[in-house]
Amino acid sequence: MPPRERLIVALDLPEPEAARRLVERLGEAVVVYKVGLELYATRGARELTDWLVGRGKRVFLDLKLCDIPETVRRAVAALRDSGASFLSVHAQPGCVEAALAAKGELSILAVTVLTSVSDADLAREGWPRGVEALVAARARAALAAGADGLVASAREAAMLRRSHGRRFVLVTPGIRPCGAAAGDQKRTAGAGEAIAAGADYVVVGRPVRDAPDPRAAAEALQAEIARAAAR
Ligand code: C5P
Repeated sequence: MPPRERLIVALDLPEPEAARRLVERLGEAVVVYKVGLELYATRGARELTDWLVGRGKRVFLDLKLCDIPETVRRAVAALRDSGASFLSVHAQPGCVEAALAAKGELSILAVTVLTSVSDADLAREGWPRGVEALVAARARAALAAGADGLVASAREAAMLRRSHGRRFVLVTPGIRPCGAAAGDQKRTAGAGEAIAAGADYVVVGRPVRDAPDPRAAAEALQAEIARAAAR
């Protein structure tokens, strides 16, 4: 895969018009976009996906579905002709299987543990074994069910590749260029680090969206990805 296509820019924006403006500013530099809950909740989200696909872009619908299997299956069936390439569901019992049953051409990505969650957060919920053990357990179950890929932080990427090889797509959010504010993300890494650890794609939102020159920020990330991929 060309290094340029390994950067997924998150369109975390309040309305489709703002998303279109950012996509136009990024121009040829970015090929894959993530449409998440904020944008999907607006009028015109479906049209935005059509518009992106019509411009030769690929779309990751990051809706992180998590519900009883019947509801997930029916939601995925309603989304499978959306033109998106990827759809996320939580790696919870029954969820991945239900999504796979209805996916059509979509690739189903199973979200293991959100990158905003730390060991301490899990300990407070009664899981004392840490993030990595939970990512490992959920990844094993999701891949056994047949998930096309996993979403995890770059910190678990090497462990996931050691355990499961390259037979799945690995997407890593929580990417922060050196010195950038982490915000609510707790398991962060640089784009190059993520690629070196085994990620196929890195997801970047605020560091591109909020940059004074988003295109320059995206191109700098892609240069970092290309350097890491060439090593
Ligand atoms: O702005 P930032 O780069 O932190 O955005 C990360 C994006 O990736 C957000 O849209 C967030 O919803 C998404 N994401 C994440 N952690 C996951 C899965 C998706 O941060 N485990």
